[in-house]
Amino acid sequence: MDIARTPATPDGNPEMADAAVAPKDFVSIRREDYMPFPWLVPQVAMDFALGLDETRVVTTLTVERNPAAEASKTIRLNGDEIVPVEVTVDGEGWSDWCMDGDDLLVTLPGAAHTIAVTTHIAPAANTKLMGLYASDGMLCTQCEAEGFRRIAFFPDRPDVLSTYRVRMSGDREAFPVLLCNGNLEAEGEDGEAHWAEWHDPWPKPSYLFALVAGQLVANSDSFTTMGGREVALNIWVRDGDLPRTGHAMESLKKSMKWDEEVFGREYDLDLFNIVAVSDFNMGAMENKGLNVFNTKYVLADEETATDGDFDGIEAVIAHEYFHNWSGNRVTCRDWFQLSLKEGFTVLRDQLFSQDMGSAPVKRIEDVRILRGVQFPEDSGPLAHPIRPDSYQEISNFYTSTIYNKGAEVIRMMRTMAGPERFRAGTDLYFERHDGEAATCEDFVRAMEDGAGLDLKQFRLWYAQAGTPKVTARLEHSGDTATLHLSQHVPATPGQPDKKPMPIPLKLALYDRDSRERGAEQLVVLDGEELTLGYPGFATRPVLSINRGFSAPIVVEREVSSDELVFLATHDDDPFARYEALQELVVRHLKAGASGTLSAEARQEGELAVADAMAAVLADSDLDDLMRGELLLLPSETYVAETMERADPAVIHAERQGLRASLARALETEFLALYERAAAVPFAMSAEAKGARKVKTQALAYLAAAFPDRAAEMAFAQYASADNMTDRQGALMVLTGLDVVERTNALIDFYNRYQGNALVIDKWFALQASSMHPHCLEHVRALADHRDFTLKNPNRVRSLYMAFAANPHAFHAADGEGYRMIADLILALDPINPQTASRFVPPLGRWRRIEPGRSALMKAQLERLAAADLSRDTAEQVSRSLG
Ligand code: ARG
Ligand code: ZN
Repeated sequence: MDIARTPATPDGNPEMADAAVAPKDFVSIRREDYMPFPWLVPQVAMDFALGLDETRVVTTLTVERNPAAEASKTIRLNGDEIVPVEVTVDGEGWSDWCMDGDDLLVTLPGAAHTIAVTTHIAPAANTKLMGLYASDGMLCTQCEAEGFRRIAFFPDRPDVLSTYRVRMSGDREAFPVLLCNGNLEAEGEDGEAHWAEWHDPWPKPSYLFALVAGQLVANSDSFTTMGGREVALNIWVRDGDLPRTGHAMESLKKSMKWDEEVFGREYDLDLFNIVAVSDFNMGAMENKGLNVFNTKYVLADEETATDGDFDGIEAVIAHEYFHNWSGNRVTCRDWFQLSLKEGFTVLRDQLFSQDMGSAPVKRIEDVRILRGVQFPEDSGPLAHPIRPDSYQEISNFYTSTIYNKGAEVIRMMRTMAGPERFRAGTDLYFERHDGEAATCEDFVRAMEDGAGLDLKQFRLWYAQAGTPKVTARLEHSGDTATLHLSQHVPATPGQPDKKPMPIPLKLALYDRDSRERGAEQLVVLDGEELTLGYPGFATRPVLSINRGFSAPIVVEREVSSDELVFLATHDDDPFARYEALQELVVRHLKAGASGTLSAEARQEGELAVADAMAAVLADSDLDDLMRGELLLLPSETYVAETMERADPAVIHAERQGLRASLARALETEFLALYERAAAVPFAMSAEAKGARKVKTQALAYLAAAFPDRAAEMAFAQYASADNMTDRQGALMVLTGLDVVERTNALIDFYNRYQGNALVIDKWFALQASSMHPHCLEHVRALADHRDFTLKNPNRVRSLYMAFAANPHAFHAADGEGYRMIADLILALDPINPQTASRFVPPLGRWRRIEPGRSALMKAQLERLAAADLSRDTAEQVSRSLG
């Protein structure tokens, strides 16, 4: 039963009559209602008697009145699907308590007390994967954001900080390893059972609590901090997985070193544990001293993980480690401040990855994620500012806006201040707020004081949703170029009128003939309009704008195809070069999709793109990692996002058509690239990774025009691959083709990796994201595969998220794709609402899709709205229709 929602009783409660007709109303929490908690809880002691079917927990809280809050005689302890088995106050049985919904209210006579509450929980039955749950026979926890209340009654809010002492006991065979936050202080045996006592000296909010018990083995290492502290490092996994933990360990040590060097942050315990679990709602979790990870972000070797997987692990290990300062030492006052820790920490992990590999390529990848996921969110019904004003279910706000746009907002401050002053700002922030639960406002103020920025107007980036659009028009007359800039921030739900925001734009002008670039300038467009004059240009220069993607905006510029080709070939800013090529392609695809393109105009457009691509293929100054970025066509989703209302089928046909035409025009070049790249032996160097990237891209291009030849090449690559990047790349190409090699390779891949869940996830995802015309039927059949289960979020995502993100399949003209996703939501919601609600946004795009499909999408949302849904899913459905 889902008791997270407003409790319903079958008796004559007058409110119930309403509830029966109106859709279920869940309470909205509002940022402006924040009040400090009336009680402090300096100490927490917990005693766990561990069992998969039943775990008994006694939680003892030391509480005292909070002098900074209005006094209250009662203390509200949040609960969720737990009941108080026994309540004592100051060691005495206590009856002065009552339940208010799921919460326990205890009335206290004095200003300081000790409250102990016993609860029984059923980890094996916990399919929501929030709180204490079982995964592969082990016990583990996920508490952020509000999972701790599923373990113990507690003021489960991030501004209540406590030190924790935890004792746990359990069967020695079932749970040989017992882990918690902080330091292990004592352990012992007790017949068949054993116990351990952990103490975390750092005060923390309940969402950072973690406990793990199970049969685990560790890859152990150590790191000596800049202050000379020796930290023991362990990565805990299932027995057979130990050989695949090396990369995660290297990533951890690099992260620790980098955070010291770049942000001056040192680790603060003698022990750092990471545990990999295979059932996990998100990527990973930064619990103090005991990070819990999705196995996907820990386990890798060249045989089973792609280069992309390796990069993902490095980034997520860094992200969670960096949270130790940006999140744990300085935490959030309330969940509206989530971007304070997430946006900042994403920026930190992005900068780290830039330093570990190719900075320009990493920047382009990050922009691609932002534009592929966050821009659509910002222009749809779920748009919200990086600091939201209200929510019903906080799990729904772990969004690309909070994370990725949040990172861009902090990156803009860094761009305006420069790296040194930015560092002074972050130093001041950590110094001022160490040990506190802070707000976004605190961060901005530290940046003003420490970095010397005036951020008065900049605060709008925290308050206003929507992606600003900047229009750039360059005029030339006599010897002067004049740049006219203007901005518009679109209306979003609840925010019809927007104020102009300060937009930092890096720009430069190129002399067309000499190809010389003028000095790069940082211009902050802070009004509706701005005009800038540039004397000294005898001929019209070429504008390079938003270089390095200095602001998370859409630029609309008046620029000829010719000028785009110039920038795509000559711009020395890698992002600007990539951008020019993308724009050239998007323009061509949009013209094609409009249906008004003459045959000659189409040919002309294809020729321009082919010329630019030929330059990319021929440019010996480019490394292959960057070449691979430039060769990538803009995604169908990104093209759709640039249109008022998109026809996904037309965009798909146009994009595939362009791919085939490029392959025909550049057949020799793609074949030569393939040959050259295929000759590079396997290594983890940037050169070898680049070669693998362009090799599969060449193959994908060739497949669009010459399917039979490409199938042969792909099968050969598949069969002879000595690493997963090559094998998966070849299988990706084959899966999109209607050839016999497709079936053979899919069968071989399954048999080869049967039993390796992460690789079988790839097998599902490849088929669900394929270009094959029968993709939808394949997905339907795979849902009945014996390896498919709704209980494992990775598996659900590998099939259905891949499918929902595959426009030509999801947007099947008869609406079958929409129906399948709605069916999934209805089936998954009672099992795992958090994961189910993540499937609503694809349907929520209905207003931006052509009318026929739009109506079918909306009909599925209405079908969902009529069902009995969790708070998570109900909120997303009602916002999507609203
Ligand atoms: N704080 C985690 C991170 O580093 C995300 C955990 C969110 N979990 C959840 N169930 N909402 O990104
Ligand atoms: Zn995070």
